[in-house]
Amino acid sequence: MLSFGAMDPRPVGVFDSGVGGLSVLRQLRRLAPRERYIYVADTAFFPYGSRPGAEVRKRAFAICTRLAESGAKLIVVACNTASAAAITDLREFFPIPFVGMVPGVKPAAASSPARKVVILATPGTLDGELYRRVVEDFGSGARIVSVPGHGLAALVEAGEAGTARARHAVREALGAEIAAGADTVVLGCTHYCFLAGDISAEFPGVAIVDTSEAVARRAVQVLQEQGLEAPSGSAAGLGLIITGDREAFHATAARLGFSLEATPAEPVP
Ligand code: DGL
Repeated sequence: MLSFGAMDPRPVGVFDSGVGGLSVLRQLRRLAPRERYIYVADTAFFPYGSRPGAEVRKRAFAICTRLAESGAKLIVVACNTASAAAITDLREFFPIPFVGMVPGVKPAAASSPARKVVILATPGTLDGELYRRVVEDFGSGARIVSVPGHGLAALVEAGEAGTARARHAVREALGAEIAAGADTVVLGCTHYCFLAGDISAEFPGVAIVDTSEAVARRAVQVLQEQGLEAPSGSAAGLGLIITGDREAFHATAARLGFSLEATPAEPVP
């Protein structure tokens, strides 16, 4: 692998099916503000969560090929569904370090007083081998209930987080399990990070586990361990690749509080 010692000006690639991964990008930019990032929102293929794994894997490969061509020194798969479908194969194929997402079963199982935890994730994530292994390895001692968030990511992508519709949708998805005693909800999809306020408003007192900061910390650790950090004094920056409707993406991102002073459009994969 190419090494630049402790100073590597190449960008960090980050991708998701849409705005969800911005939750991870926000943490990355906070923890590693000197880095240059390229964020891919694969909105032309949104949603990933209800597609067969092979299709999501194909998109993940197309996007990572594009990021590799842009010189990415690290790729953060800021999507649980894509991580579930492809991270093992991506790691094998590309000579680039990868950091991916897995639902936070471990911290939730360890901290739930009632020992009853809801994992809210897409059907694609919940059907995957990665999830099955994480529950097996880290879920012991707690009751782990998997709840597929049908339509929740689409609400977020449409800019409806924080609305009465979002409150209604989280009530529908989580109400029965919380009434049955679950006290902890794991946000197992990066889009759902933007529903944390709706979940708290609807179910005060329920703990919410969001792994976006932990994933960003892991990415920073990889940059440090592998001598890939940006040189001091380098100008941070952000490039955006949006495979679908740019205006819709920017409108939703703005509603979520992001001002993406992005470089001009880059070619889509
Ligand atoms: N943000 C993606 C995840 O973390 C899923 C959204 C989608 O269904 O495309 O799983």
